[in-house]
Amino acid sequence: MKHTDIIRKLNLEQKCALLSGETVFTTRALPGKGIPSITLSDGPNGVRKQAGAADHLGLNPSVPATCFPTSSATACSWDEALGEAVGEAMGEEAAAQEVAVLLGPGLNIQRSPLCGRDFEYFSEDPILAGKMAAAYVRGIQKKGIAACPKHFAANSQELRRMASDSVVDERTLRELYLTGFEIVVKEARPKTIMTSYNLINGTYANENAHLLQDILRKDWGFDGAVVTDWGGSNDHALGVKNGSTLEMPAPGGDAVRELMQAVQSGKITEADVDARLDELLTLVFDTHAAVQSHSRTFDADAHHALARRAAAESIVLLKNENDLLPLAEGAKVAVIGDFAQTPRYQGAGSSAVNSIKVDTFLDCLKESGLASVGFAPGFDRQGKPDAAKQAEAVALAQKAEVVLLCLGLDEIKESEGLDRGDMRLADNQIELLKAVQQANPNTVVIVSAGASLETPWLAHCRALVYGALGGQAGAGAMVDVLTGKINPSGKLAETWANAHADTPAKDNFAGAGRTVQYREGLYVGYRYYQTAGVPVAFPFGYGLSYTSFAYSELKADARSVTLTVTNTGSRAGAEIVQVYAAKPDARIFRPAQELKAFTKVWLEAGESKTVTLPLDDKAFRYWNTKTDSWEVEGGTYELRVGASSADIRLTAAVEVNGTSAPNPY
Ligand code: GLC
Repeated sequence: MKHTDIIRKLNLEQKCALLSGETVFTTRALPGKGIPSITLSDGPNGVRKQAGAADHLGLNPSVPATCFPTSSATACSWDEALGEAVGEAMGEEAAAQEVAVLLGPGLNIQRSPLCGRDFEYFSEDPILAGKMAAAYVRGIQKKGIAACPKHFAANSQELRRMASDSVVDERTLRELYLTGFEIVVKEARPKTIMTSYNLINGTYANENAHLLQDILRKDWGFDGAVVTDWGGSNDHALGVKNGSTLEMPAPGGDAVRELMQAVQSGKITEADVDARLDELLTLVFDTHAAVQSHSRTFDADAHHALARRAAAESIVLLKNENDLLPLAEGAKVAVIGDFAQTPRYQGAGSSAVNSIKVDTFLDCLKESGLASVGFAPGFDRQGKPDAAKQAEAVALAQKAEVVLLCLGLDEIKESEGLDRGDMRLADNQIELLKAVQQANPNTVVIVSAGASLETPWLAHCRALVYGALGGQAGAGAMVDVLTGKINPSGKLAETWANAHADTPAKDNFAGAGRTVQYREGLYVGYRYYQTAGVPVAFPFGYGLSYTSFAYSELKADARSVTLTVTNTGSRAGAEIVQVYAAKPDARIFRPAQELKAFTKVWLEAGESKTVTLPLDDKAFRYWNTKTDSWEVEGGTYELRVGASSADIRLTAAVEVNGTSAPNPY
């Protein structure tokens, strides 16, 4: 305990009062005891500090801040250094606005593409999600304020989120849903973590001793403060006993009296309260000091430029027939699509940022060197058929060499609090695409969406560029990629299935009743499609470039992988190298292959670099439900080095010593 001197001078009521919020986003102060109040604010892609009325759904206005690309976008950059830079900028803005705890990043696994908050999360894969989230946390905490990775844990659907019970076997929980959080806790040491609303195997996450004591604090060594989600506390006393530090938002005096009664009745002990209070005081004093010593200003222009770079690095080139892209200087383009004028650049809900400025595609096109022949909205944003708009767009398409068609999901399709009903683009947008392409086969589709889409219309465009939700500077980044100023380097952090019907969680997602059965187990995303042999539209880790790369000279053992990457094209670019582990002769069932390491290599045309990717303690482990611990199946593994999960360039067999654990199956 760090603060026994202070705690000793507090009576029970004062102690209990400090363990719940005073207002929607502030903790209680005890001025007479030198304990200040601190402010907590969202969110994962920018600061949402509400100055007036406050809410946890992004309804009331907040103080202007930089809106960065969402996590599902920056995940496609696979660039931890970028994640750290974005985190640092958000931490600066938070401290400047006197926010002590920034409520992000979100890193729940994208179990289904339909989860309404997938835009707020990184990936279907825990290594990519964990490494990117850890980078964000390091950045956010660089100036001494707290990050708050969330939502811990197994919160992968929005329907009935405050009451649903995620029923998931221990191996799947540990390997898939917790490994990302484990990476964040061990590699970035967050000062807080937020528990999820849902139950896990029958017990609310926020009072789940197995989750908060056995795993978070004992196994992983977490020593920070656990914060409830807003309204996520079911039994605060039980939460305090089992490791939850701070109940938000402002439950009022009843919560204090309830906690006091719990101590007086023996339901919990005063030592439980003191342990939580020690965590809280550490958080309050550390972050309050950081806020006090931080400037009240930040460089908004520099952060806007960083947001543009982050968006550019996250753009994924999915199709580029006959190298239609990049467009030459002076190319005559028709710009079609409502999103070109009114960008869709972030998700809805508590993550929503009041952006300092927002670039539009049309404006950014003006200084791009392209010759625009005009703009047509082309479709109704909410999906209503509109023949006149479509006809206007088709007429415009005929006047240009290339059509830039800006499509995507509108604001109400992806939000906190509700899940998507399908993975489709709106019918009126698909109809428009077909009509435009008839008029001009040189059609480039640019998609704004926070998660994967069905693409049955892929044949109707010559090029497809995925901008995800690119933040306030996303439009400029997209123009930079289309003109070749930036060579796209993003790769998908989520598989794009051919159809929702192919997705593994479809029968156990957002159904009736409280129970969500994670029956697909480990087989989520590429772990399912590649094990079951289900073809997909675009595989995990896939993305094209305007140049090409060769992989050579692989050397590998159980500790690391070394190879040479060469830029064999005519322009500089960056390549994301991925390492997957496979064990075709496994006795312990497992996915066909799993991502174990990755790196991003920047290369001039013709340049080669030798890179070494270390393999850590997660490379060969599996959770053995008989020994109730991590074990390793001994034998030969294949280390597969690829440009995507479906484009393996080099393979090496390595021998791994096992732990000789009994086979639990
Ligand atoms: C919301 C979200 C959480 C957010 C919190 C505060 O309901 O679930 O991510 O940080 O409340 O706004």
